[in-house]
Amino acid sequence: QYEAGLRPRTLDDYIGQDRVRENLQVAIAAARQRGEALDHVLVSGPPGLGKTTLAYVIANELGVSMKASSGPVIERPGDLAAILTTLQRHEVLFIDEIHRLAPAIEEILYPAMEDYELDIVIGQGPGARSVKVPVQPFTLVAATTRTGLLTAPLRSRFGIVHRLDYYTEADMIEIVTRSGRILGVPLSADAATEVARRSRGTPRIANRLLRRVRDYAQVRADGTVTLDVAQAALVLLEVDAYGFDEVDRRLLRTIIDKFDGGPVGVNTLAAALGEERDAIEDIYEPFLMQVGFLERTPRGRMATRRAYAFFGLEEPGKDNRLW
Ligand code: ADE
Repeated sequence: QYEAGLRPRTLDDYIGQDRVRENLQVAIAAARQRGEALDHVLVSGPPGLGKTTLAYVIANELGVSMKASSGPVIERPGDLAAILTTLQRHEVLFIDEIHRLAPAIEEILYPAMEDYELDIVIGQGPGARSVKVPVQPFTLVAATTRTGLLTAPLRSRFGIVHRLDYYTEADMIEIVTRSGRILGVPLSADAATEVARRSRGTPRIANRLLRRVRDYAQVRADGTVTLDVAQAALVLLEVDAYGFDEVDRRLLRTIIDKFDGGPVGVNTLAAALGEERDAIEDIYEPFLMQVGFLERTPRGRMATRRAYAFFGLEEPGKDNRLW
Protein backbone atom coordinates (compact mmCIF):
# COMPACT_ATOMS: atom_id res chain seq x y z
CA GLN A 1 0.00 0.00 0.00
CA TYR A 2 1.39 3.34 -1.09
CA GLU A 3 0.29 5.08 2.11
CA ALA A 4 1.79 2.45 4.38
CA GLY A 5 3.25 4.14 7.41
CA LEU A 6 1.36 7.37 6.83
CA ARG A 7 -2.04 6.07 7.85
CA PRO A 8 -2.93 7.02 11.43
CA ARG A 9 -3.65 3.99 13.61
CA THR A 10 -5.62 5.58 16.43
CA LEU A 11 -8.38 8.18 16.69
CA ASP A 12 -5.93 10.43 18.55
CA ASP A 13 -3.59 10.34 15.55
CA TYR A 14 -6.42 10.94 13.10
CA ILE A 15 -6.41 14.63 12.19
CA GLY A 16 -9.59 16.63 11.50
CA GLN A 17 -13.19 15.38 11.09
CA ASP A 18 -13.62 16.23 14.78
CA ARG A 19 -17.32 15.45 15.07
CA VAL A 20 -16.91 12.03 13.45
CA ARG A 21 -13.95 11.25 15.65
CA GLU A 22 -15.66 12.21 18.87
CA ASN A 23 -18.79 10.23 18.08
CA LEU A 24 -16.74 7.16 17.23
CA GLN A 25 -14.72 7.53 20.41
CA VAL A 26 -17.91 7.33 22.47
CA ALA A 27 -19.45 4.45 20.50
CA ILE A 28 -16.25 2.39 20.56
CA ALA A 29 -15.64 2.91 24.27
CA ALA A 30 -19.25 1.95 25.03
CA ALA A 31 -19.14 -1.20 22.91
CA ARG A 32 -15.87 -2.23 24.55
CA GLN A 33 -17.26 -1.67 28.04
CA ARG A 34 -20.29 -3.81 27.25
CA GLY A 35 -18.16 -6.47 25.57
CA GLU A 36 -20.25 -6.24 22.43
CA ALA A 37 -19.55 -5.84 18.73
CA LEU A 38 -19.70 -2.19 17.65
CA ASP A 39 -22.84 -1.27 15.69
CA HIS A 40 -22.43 -1.25 11.91
CA VAL A 41 -20.82 1.93 10.59
CA LEU A 42 -21.49 3.69 7.27
CA VAL A 43 -18.94 6.29 6.17
CA SER A 44 -19.58 8.46 3.13
CA GLY A 45 -17.59 11.12 1.34
CA PRO A 46 -15.42 11.86 -1.70
CA PRO A 47 -12.37 9.70 -2.52
CA GLY A 48 -9.08 10.23 -0.70
CA LEU A 49 -10.46 11.64 2.56
CA GLY A 50 -9.61 8.59 4.65
CA LYS A 51 -12.63 6.27 4.67
CA THR A 52 -10.45 3.15 4.49
CA THR A 53 -8.04 4.65 7.01
CA LEU A 54 -10.93 5.24 9.39
CA ALA A 55 -12.03 1.61 9.07
CA TYR A 56 -8.54 0.44 10.09
CA VAL A 57 -8.58 2.91 12.98
CA ILE A 58 -11.95 1.60 14.17
CA ALA A 59 -10.72 -2.00 14.11
CA ASN A 60 -7.53 -1.02 15.92
CA GLU A 61 -9.41 0.95 18.59
CA LEU A 62 -11.73 -2.03 19.09
CA GLY A 63 -8.70 -4.27 19.45
CA VAL A 64 -9.82 -6.59 16.65
CA SER A 65 -8.58 -7.49 13.18
CA MET A 66 -10.18 -6.38 9.92
CA LYS A 67 -11.08 -8.10 6.67
CA ALA A 68 -11.37 -5.79 3.66
CA SER A 69 -13.32 -6.22 0.45
CA SER A 70 -15.29 -4.03 -1.94
CA GLY A 71 -18.69 -3.96 -3.61
CA PRO A 72 -17.58 -4.66 -7.19
CA VAL A 73 -15.25 -7.50 -6.11
CA ILE A 74 -18.01 -9.51 -4.41
CA GLU A 75 -19.60 -11.00 -7.51
CA ARG A 76 -21.45 -14.07 -6.29
CA PRO A 77 -23.49 -14.76 -3.14
CA GLY A 78 -20.99 -17.46 -2.23
CA ASP A 79 -18.17 -14.88 -2.14
CA LEU A 80 -19.90 -12.93 0.60
CA ALA A 81 -21.04 -16.06 2.44
CA ALA A 82 -17.44 -17.26 2.51
CA ILE A 83 -16.26 -13.97 4.03
CA LEU A 84 -19.06 -13.80 6.58
CA THR A 85 -18.72 -17.38 7.83
CA THR A 86 -14.99 -17.01 8.45
CA LEU A 87 -15.26 -13.78 10.48
CA GLN A 88 -13.93 -13.94 14.00
CA ARG A 89 -15.89 -12.71 17.00
CA HIS A 90 -16.28 -8.89 16.97
CA GLU A 91 -14.07 -8.59 13.88
CA VAL A 92 -14.47 -5.65 11.47
CA LEU A 93 -15.55 -6.36 7.91
CA PHE A 94 -14.76 -3.38 5.68
CA ILE A 95 -16.64 -3.15 2.37
CA ASP A 96 -15.53 -0.27 0.17
CA GLU A 97 -17.90 1.09 -2.51
CA ILE A 98 -20.78 -0.75 -0.88
CA HIS A 99 -23.25 0.98 -3.24
CA ARG A 100 -21.91 -1.24 -6.00
CA LEU A 101 -23.00 -4.51 -4.37
CA ALA A 102 -25.38 -6.49 -6.57
CA PRO A 103 -28.96 -6.58 -5.19
CA ALA A 104 -28.92 -10.38 -4.70
CA ILE A 105 -25.78 -10.04 -2.59
CA GLU A 106 -27.13 -7.13 -0.62
CA GLU A 107 -29.96 -9.33 0.58
CA ILE A 108 -27.51 -11.76 2.12
CA LEU A 109 -26.17 -8.92 4.21
CA TYR A 110 -29.51 -8.02 5.81
CA PRO A 111 -29.91 -11.03 8.15
CA ALA A 112 -26.15 -11.10 8.71
CA MET A 113 -26.17 -7.48 9.90
CA GLU A 114 -29.35 -7.76 11.89
CA ASP A 115 -29.26 -11.21 13.48
CA TYR A 116 -25.72 -12.44 12.74
CA GLU A 117 -27.27 -15.12 10.59
CA LEU A 118 -27.07 -16.27 6.98
CA ASP A 119 -30.04 -17.64 5.05
CA ILE A 120 -28.61 -20.17 2.66
CA VAL A 121 -30.88 -21.72 0.03
CA ILE A 122 -30.11 -25.34 -0.75
CA GLY A 123 -31.34 -26.92 -3.95
CA GLN A 124 -33.67 -25.54 -6.59
CA GLY A 125 -37.37 -25.51 -7.45
CA PRO A 126 -39.99 -27.12 -5.21
CA GLY A 127 -37.38 -29.09 -3.24
CA ALA A 128 -35.39 -26.00 -2.31
CA ARG A 129 -35.12 -25.22 1.36
CA SER A 130 -33.40 -22.56 3.38
CA VAL A 131 -31.03 -23.18 6.23
CA LYS A 132 -29.85 -20.62 8.74
CA VAL A 133 -26.15 -20.48 9.42
CA PRO A 134 -24.93 -18.43 12.36
CA VAL A 135 -22.06 -15.96 11.93
CA GLN A 136 -19.98 -14.40 14.67
CA PRO A 137 -21.10 -11.02 15.99
CA PHE A 138 -19.19 -8.57 13.78
CA THR A 139 -19.06 -4.93 12.74
CA LEU A 140 -19.62 -3.98 9.13
CA VAL A 141 -17.81 -0.77 8.25
CA ALA A 142 -18.98 0.30 4.82
CA ALA A 143 -17.80 3.15 2.62
CA THR A 144 -19.59 4.98 -0.18
CA THR A 145 -19.31 8.33 -1.91
CA ARG A 146 -22.87 9.27 -0.99
CA THR A 147 -25.36 7.57 1.37
CA GLY A 148 -28.12 8.38 -1.14
CA LEU A 149 -26.62 5.77 -3.48
CA LEU A 150 -27.60 3.00 -1.04
CA THR A 151 -30.96 1.31 -1.05
CA ALA A 152 -33.16 2.32 1.88
CA PRO A 153 -33.19 -1.17 3.48
CA LEU A 154 -29.40 -1.33 3.49
CA ARG A 155 -28.92 2.22 4.75
CA SER A 156 -31.38 1.69 7.60
CA ARG A 157 -29.32 -1.21 8.97
CA PHE A 158 -26.38 0.99 9.97
CA GLY A 159 -26.50 2.28 13.53
CA ILE A 160 -23.66 4.75 13.02
CA VAL A 161 -23.62 6.96 9.92
CA HIS A 162 -21.02 9.65 9.25
CA ARG A 163 -19.93 11.84 6.38
CA LEU A 164 -16.31 12.90 5.83
CA ASP A 165 -15.80 16.42 4.47
CA TYR A 166 -12.90 18.03 2.69
CA TYR A 167 -10.25 18.98 5.25
CA THR A 168 -9.69 22.57 6.30
CA GLU A 169 -6.40 24.24 5.45
CA ALA A 170 -5.26 24.01 9.09
CA ASP A 171 -5.96 20.25 9.15
CA MET A 172 -4.18 19.78 5.83
CA ILE A 173 -1.09 21.59 7.13
CA GLU A 174 -1.08 19.31 10.16
CA ILE A 175 -1.39 16.22 7.96
CA VAL A 176 1.43 17.33 5.62
CA THR A 177 3.67 18.17 8.58
CA ARG A 178 2.96 14.80 10.19
CA SER A 179 3.64 12.92 6.93
CA GLY A 180 6.87 14.88 6.42
CA ARG A 181 7.99 13.88 9.89
CA ILE A 182 7.18 10.20 9.28
CA LEU A 183 8.90 10.17 5.88
CA GLY A 184 11.89 12.04 7.30
CA VAL A 185 11.58 14.94 4.84
CA PRO A 186 13.11 18.21 6.05
CA LEU A 187 10.17 20.53 5.41
CA SER A 188 9.80 24.22 6.24
CA ALA A 189 6.50 25.46 7.67
CA ASP A 190 5.73 27.63 4.64
CA ALA A 191 6.49 24.73 2.29
CA ALA A 192 4.09 22.50 4.25
CA THR A 193 1.43 25.19 3.93
CA GLU A 194 2.02 25.42 0.17
CA VAL A 195 1.63 21.67 -0.32
CA ALA A 196 -1.42 21.64 1.97
CA ARG A 197 -3.15 24.44 0.05
CA ARG A 198 -2.69 22.77 -3.28
CA SER A 199 -4.03 19.37 -2.25
CA ARG A 200 -7.75 19.83 -2.88
CA GLY A 201 -8.56 19.34 0.83
CA THR A 202 -7.59 15.68 0.34
CA PRO A 203 -4.92 13.85 2.41
CA ARG A 204 -4.26 11.26 -0.30
CA ILE A 205 -3.35 14.05 -2.74
CA ALA A 206 -1.25 15.83 -0.10
CA ASN A 207 0.76 12.69 0.62
CA ARG A 208 1.34 12.12 -3.09
CA LEU A 209 2.45 15.71 -3.68
CA LEU A 210 4.72 15.55 -0.65
CA ARG A 211 6.54 12.53 -2.14
CA ARG A 212 6.97 14.30 -5.49
CA VAL A 213 8.19 17.47 -3.80
CA ARG A 214 10.65 15.38 -1.79
CA ASP A 215 11.96 13.87 -5.07
CA TYR A 216 12.45 17.33 -6.50
CA ALA A 217 14.26 18.58 -3.38
CA GLN A 218 16.57 15.57 -3.50
CA VAL A 219 17.49 15.88 -7.19
CA ARG A 220 17.35 19.62 -7.85
CA ALA A 221 18.23 20.99 -4.39
CA ASP A 222 19.95 19.84 -1.20
CA GLY A 223 17.09 17.63 -0.01
CA THR A 224 15.37 20.25 2.10
CA VAL A 225 11.87 21.24 1.04
CA THR A 226 11.81 25.02 1.30
CA LEU A 227 9.00 27.19 -0.05
CA ASP A 228 11.01 27.88 -3.24
CA VAL A 229 11.67 24.20 -3.79
CA ALA A 230 8.03 23.29 -3.15
CA GLN A 231 6.79 25.95 -5.56
CA ALA A 232 9.21 24.94 -8.31
CA ALA A 233 8.25 21.28 -7.92
CA LEU A 234 4.53 22.08 -8.02
CA VAL A 235 4.99 24.17 -11.17
CA LEU A 236 6.79 21.24 -12.81
CA LEU A 237 3.94 18.93 -11.72
CA GLU A 238 1.42 21.40 -13.21
CA VAL A 239 -0.48 21.60 -9.93
CA ASP A 240 -2.38 24.88 -9.79
CA ALA A 241 -3.04 27.09 -6.77
CA TYR A 242 -6.08 25.04 -5.67
CA GLY A 243 -4.87 21.62 -6.71
CA PHE A 244 -7.64 21.29 -9.29
CA ASP A 245 -7.51 18.20 -11.41
CA GLU A 246 -8.31 18.02 -15.10
CA VAL A 247 -12.03 17.37 -14.55
CA ASP A 248 -12.37 20.28 -12.08
CA ARG A 249 -10.96 22.65 -14.70
CA ARG A 250 -12.94 21.19 -17.59
CA LEU A 251 -16.16 21.35 -15.58
CA LEU A 252 -15.71 25.06 -14.85
CA ARG A 253 -14.60 25.88 -18.40
CA THR A 254 -17.61 24.03 -19.83
CA ILE A 255 -20.04 26.04 -17.71
CA ILE A 256 -18.25 29.26 -18.66
CA ASP A 257 -17.59 28.60 -22.36
CA LYS A 258 -20.56 26.49 -23.43
CA PHE A 259 -23.27 27.70 -21.08
CA ASP A 260 -22.33 31.35 -20.56
CA GLY A 261 -21.53 30.72 -16.92
CA GLY A 262 -24.82 28.92 -16.27
CA PRO A 263 -27.26 28.13 -14.92
CA VAL A 264 -27.01 24.70 -16.48
CA GLY A 265 -28.73 21.52 -15.30
CA VAL A 266 -26.55 18.73 -13.95
CA ASN A 267 -27.68 16.22 -16.60
CA THR A 268 -26.82 18.61 -19.41
CA LEU A 269 -23.50 19.32 -17.79
CA ALA A 270 -22.72 15.61 -17.35
CA ALA A 271 -23.50 14.97 -21.03
CA ALA A 272 -21.31 17.87 -22.17
CA LEU A 273 -18.41 16.61 -20.03
CA GLY A 274 -18.84 12.93 -20.79
CA GLU A 275 -18.74 12.24 -17.04
CA GLU A 276 -21.25 10.44 -14.86
CA ARG A 277 -23.79 12.58 -13.07
CA ASP A 278 -23.06 10.82 -9.77
CA ALA A 279 -19.36 11.59 -10.03
CA ILE A 280 -20.10 15.24 -10.73
CA GLU A 281 -22.46 15.52 -7.78
CA ASP A 282 -20.45 13.48 -5.29
CA ILE A 283 -16.85 14.26 -6.13
CA TYR A 284 -16.39 17.41 -8.19
CA GLU A 285 -19.17 19.75 -7.11
CA PRO A 286 -18.67 19.47 -3.33
CA PHE A 287 -15.07 20.62 -3.65
CA LEU A 288 -15.74 23.37 -6.20
CA MET A 289 -18.54 24.68 -3.99
CA GLN A 290 -16.34 24.58 -0.90
CA VAL A 291 -13.69 26.74 -2.55
CA GLY A 292 -16.40 29.07 -3.88
CA PHE A 293 -16.05 28.43 -7.63
CA LEU A 294 -19.44 26.87 -8.21
CA GLU A 295 -22.94 27.62 -7.04
CA ARG A 296 -25.93 25.30 -7.02
CA THR A 297 -29.12 27.23 -7.74
CA PRO A 298 -32.67 25.96 -8.27
CA ARG A 299 -32.20 26.54 -12.00
CA GLY A 300 -28.85 24.79 -12.24
CA ARG A 301 -25.11 25.15 -11.72
CA MET A 302 -23.38 28.51 -12.09
CA ALA A 303 -19.72 29.51 -12.28
CA THR A 304 -18.93 32.23 -9.73
CA ARG A 305 -16.93 35.41 -10.08
CA ARG A 306 -13.97 33.61 -8.51
CA ALA A 307 -14.10 30.95 -11.21
CA TYR A 308 -13.91 33.60 -13.94
CA ALA A 309 -11.05 35.33 -12.14
CA PHE A 310 -9.16 32.03 -11.79
CA PHE A 311 -9.10 31.62 -15.58
CA GLY A 312 -8.31 35.30 -16.08
CA LEU A 313 -11.72 35.90 -17.62
CA GLU A 314 -14.19 38.70 -17.17
CA GLU A 315 -17.53 37.73 -15.70
CA PRO A 316 -20.47 38.53 -17.99
CA GLY A 317 -22.14 41.24 -15.88
CA LYS A 318 -25.23 43.30 -16.44
CA ASP A 319 -23.11 45.90 -18.23
CA ASN A 320 -21.87 43.80 -21.13
CA ARG A 321 -24.93 41.70 -21.74
CA LEU A 322 -26.63 42.07 -25.08
CA TRP A 323 -30.19 42.27 -23.79
N1 ADE B 1 -3.77 10.45 6.43
C1 ADE B 1 -4.91 10.33 5.76
N2 ADE B 1 -5.92 10.87 6.47
C2 ADE B 1 -5.40 11.32 7.61
C3 ADE B 1 -5.93 11.97 8.74
N3 ADE B 1 -7.22 12.27 8.81
N4 ADE B 1 -5.12 12.27 9.73
C4 ADE B 1 -3.83 11.97 9.65
N5 ADE B 1 -3.26 11.38 8.60
C5 ADE B 1 -4.03 11.06 7.60
